[in-house]
Amino acid sequence: MKSKTLIEAKNINFSYEKELVLKDINFKLQEGDFFAVTGPNGGGKSTLIKIILSILKPKSGEVIKAKEIQTPLEIGYVPQNTNINLDFPISVLDVVMMGNGAKHKNLKSFGISYSKMEIECAKHSLSKVGMQEFIKRKISDLSGGQRQRVMIARAICSHPKLLILDEPTSSIDINGQKEIYKLLKELNKEVTILVVTHDLSVISNYANKVLYVNHEAYIHNLKDDRFKIDSNEHFCEVELMQLLGESHA
Ligand SMILES: Nc1ncnc2c1ncn2[C@@H]1O[C@H](COP(=O)(O)OP(=O)(O)O)[C@@H](O)[C@H]1O
Ligand SMILES: [Mg+2]
Repeated sequence: MKSKTLIEAKNINFSYEKELVLKDINFKLQEGDFFAVTGPNGGGKSTLIKIILSILKPKSGEVIKAKEIQTPLEIGYVPQNTNINLDFPISVLDVVMMGNGAKHKNLKSFGISYSKMEIECAKHSLSKVGMQEFIKRKISDLSGGQRQRVMIARAICSHPKLLILDEPTSSIDINGQKEIYKLLKELNKEVTILVVTHDLSVISNYANKVLYVNHEAYIHNLKDDRFKIDSNEHFCEVELMQLLGESHA
């Protein structure tokens, strides 16, 4: 069965200042993909995500989006380095509600109450990430991994067709990281996933496609024989990175 294209990037060029940060980027993201984006720091991964989200506009080229992901609520987004101010008295429920559009300018902690339906919806997304018992807790009382789960619940609250996560496990311990990726694999049964990661075991175990971004970008299908990696095999990260950074897609 041929799956539907959700995003097609065509000849994207982008620069903040004079120098091009992204040069002639082309790829397709299909429904059901577990799509990894990798490459060195400063290579332009987060910039590319912001272009996909229409936060930044390409200098030339275009991102064609399927009709299912035209409005902002149809793409769930977990940004890089979500630095929540831990002194801020905000509950898990409040954080999840912020993913449900800009309806709630005032939050429950400040005396505004949510409707029963909204609370049910938040409970549902929290149950999907295994955090339903924490709904009334202050976000500051949670561990890094738990907090990131809440950020994922927030991103899936509006039932997006596509979930984008930018280095979601960079400040989480190794067990927490594994848990997050297991969760993403489970969520991938219902939602297309695009994740920025440096973790090659994640790429080899979970992703079906990987886009290597270092100003230019190369897309690889991981079902291709060349990239079949036995998860028990000890593979060389440097070699794999080199392979991904070559243009024989
Ligand atoms: N707002 C900005 N203004 C100017 N330069 C930026 C801005 N954001 C990122 N850059 C530069 O663009 C390049 C790509 O950054 P980024 O997309 O964050 O890379 P990555 O996510 O792969 O680490 C870097 O050289 C970075 O310094
Ligand atoms: Mg980045």
